Amino acid sequence: MPDQQTTQLPVSPSAVPRRRGANTVAVLISGVLLGLFGVLGAGLVGISHDGTAERIAANQREALLQQLRVLVPADAIDNDMLSDVTEVAAPEQFGAPLTRVYRGRRAGQPVAVVLSPVVTQGYSGSIALIVAILADGRLAGVRVLAHHETPGLGDKIEIERTDWVLGFDGRALGDPPLSAWKVKRDGGVFDQFTGATVTPRAVVRGVKGALEYFNEHAEQLFAAPAIEEAAHG
Ligand SMILES: Cc1cc2nc3c(=O)[nH]c(=O)nc-3n(C[C@H](O)[C@H](O)[C@H](O)COP(=O)(O)O)c2cc1C
Repeated sequence: MPDQQTTQLPVSPSAVPRRRGANTVAVLISGVLLGLFGVLGAGLVGISHDGTAERIAANQREALLQQLRVLVPADAIDNDMLSDVTEVAAPEQFGAPLTRVYRGRRAGQPVAVVLSPVVTQGYSGSIALIVAILADGRLAGVRVLAHHETPGLGDKIEIERTDWVLGFDGRALGDPPLSAWKVKRDGGVFDQFTGATVTPRAVVRGVKGALEYFNEHAEQLFAAPAIEEAAHG
């Protein structure tokens, strides 16, 4: 049998150290590139997160504006409600450290305020409301701005699902009597949903709280100076 020979490629004496040097440079370049991509990626995630938060805030603001126009029709007022805004610090009633209050006036006279309480006792957390109250203390209307309630159960508070929320139209503290500002199951006048009492109970509580706050502070709410920056911020 012939001797099996291993084929050895010719290698120049300087080739090995040169390749090692080249490898080191390649590793360094890869490391730098990786680092750059890491920084770039983190930056992009940060930017898109900021953008998303801004978009959510802008969407919520747009939804609020649409509801404002529905609840307080433009022909009922002659001021710009979006520029006639004040802020109140009543976290217990409104569920936030500061709450914006939009004021509607005609010939300088108070017509309506729009409050935005956030009730925390929903079945799945907080429910953001818009409560429009006429100067005489009657409700111009209520809408749900945001919630996490269960589709098919708690989401019937949305005007897009049922007209339940219209049951507040024209109501006031005293109409029904204070003791009847509850869902029917608790002895009040407002409907609950079959198998879902928690959600409407929370909304009724939020609306009642907003009316109580208005009744106690109506004068200050209309008299407070406007903070235009906040209104358009
Ligand atoms: C998966 C699931 C989701 C529910 N979602 C809601 C809801 O969104 N709102 C609500 O009031 N009750 C919801 N409920 C029902 C509550 O657990 C509770 O039974 C009900 O609100 C009490 O009202 P009832 O006494 O009329 O049953 C849900 C129950 C389950 C099992």
